[in-house]
Parts: sequence; structure tokens; C-alpha cells
Amino acid sequence: MQNNTIVVLISGTGTNLQALIDSQKRYKYQIVAVISNNPKALGIAIAKKHGINNFVVDHRKYQTRELFELAMSEIINSYNPALVVLAGFMRILEPQFISQFNNRLINIHPSLLPKYKGLNTHKRVLRNKDKQHGCTAHLVIPELDCGSNIVQATLDIQEQETEDSLNTRVKKMEYIIYAWCVKMLIQKRITINNKTIFLDSKKLPITGYTVTELSLHTIDDI
Ligand code: GAR
Repeated sequence: MQNNTIVVLISGTGTNLQALIDSQKRYKYQIVAVISNNPKALGIAIAKKHGINNFVVDHRKYQTRELFELAMSEIINSYNPALVVLAGFMRILEPQFISQFNNRLINIHPSLLPKYKGLNTHKRVLRNKDKQHGCTAHLVIPELDCGSNIVQATLDIQEQETEDSLNTRVKKMEYIIYAWCVKMLIQKRITINNKTIFLDSKKLPITGYTVTELSLHTIDDI
């Protein structure tokens, strides 16, 4: 049987984790473990509530980044997951960690990458008076937020928009595209060759597969 297991890494509220949990049955993947670097992450309670194996690997308790990542690697590798899924995991990862999960490590980021890598994306979008914003599920490579885009969701910024309203709208889109992205990778309908992403063997543009806020749910028909 195909390996359909994923390990999810979190640091905070875990609302993306919740969305990944909600789609498990329907999309036929299985979250086998959740790891948080933050002992206070609300996402740990979500994992517990759903009976998912959960671990705290507190980065502050390790002398080096390498040792912290080694501890996470040991847990992850004990599950041999098909995918390692960063869902609001807010630590930068070293190349050595990333290279073990070649094309099996993904992230969700609250901007239309390659625009707005890093933090405070909503604030920067508003400051620059952009007309569009969104989120991107992408492969993780050593350069921060630079791995190939897999799927992107876009929205039109409205006149009264605030950081809070953008956060709410963008997150709603994240929940949908990220679970779909996991499903498509697990089913091998989305594949990666070199840095190029293919959907059913057809090359995707560098934006990845794109949906809009209004057409979000159409990805379920694909
Ligand atoms: C999400 O918006 C995610 O895109 C972002 O953190 C939030 C986590 O929320 N991730 C990053 O900024 C990574 N660079 P959650 O804990 O409620 O899922």
C-alpha cells in the first residue's frame, strides 16, 4: 500500500494543523505525529484532542541548532512519513535537516511567493498598497521561502482591509490549498522533477497551480 503518512511541525496556534486533521479522512492521508518546538503552542492540545502522537522539541533546550534538528529528525524518521509538513513552524531549518527530506518537505506561507518572504507579510502588503495578496504552498529548500511553488491562492485587497482581515481571509485559503497540496503529493498526482512541479504529468507555471479566493473550492474537482 502507498505510504500516506505525514508528520506535521508547528510552533503556534495550529489552525492549519486543525484544517489538515479535518481533511484527513476525505483526502486519505494520515497524520502520524505532530512536533512543536514551542511547549506553549496551542496546536499541541489540538493534536492531543485528536489522539495524534505529539512531541515537544524545545529549541531552547539544545545547545546548537544542529542538535535541536537532530532530535526532531529522530522522531520524524521513526515514522518514515511520506511528507513532512510545516504548518506555522517558525524556526529556520539548516540545509542538513532539509536535505534528508528531499522533495518531501513542504511549507505554507502567507504571501504570493516570491513576493514577501519572511515575516509580517500582511503589514508589508498593505504598506505597499498592493492590489492582490494570498498564500503559497511550496517545497522547502535551504534558502528561506524560495522552494518551488506548488499551489497558490490569491485574493483582491479591499478598501477597508486591515492586517487582521487579511490574516483571516488568507488563513481560510491556506486551510483549503494546503490540505489539497498534501493529498495531491501523497497520491503522486503532483510530482517534482528537479525543481519543476507537474500536475498529472503536465508542467505547472512557476506560480504553481493557482486558484482565487472565489474559486477556491474548484480545486476539489481536479
Ligand atoms: C500561517 O498563516 C502560516 O502561513 C504562517 O504562520 C501561520 C500559522 O498559523 N507561516 C509562516 O509565516 C511561515 N513562514 P497556525 O499556527 O494557526 O496554523
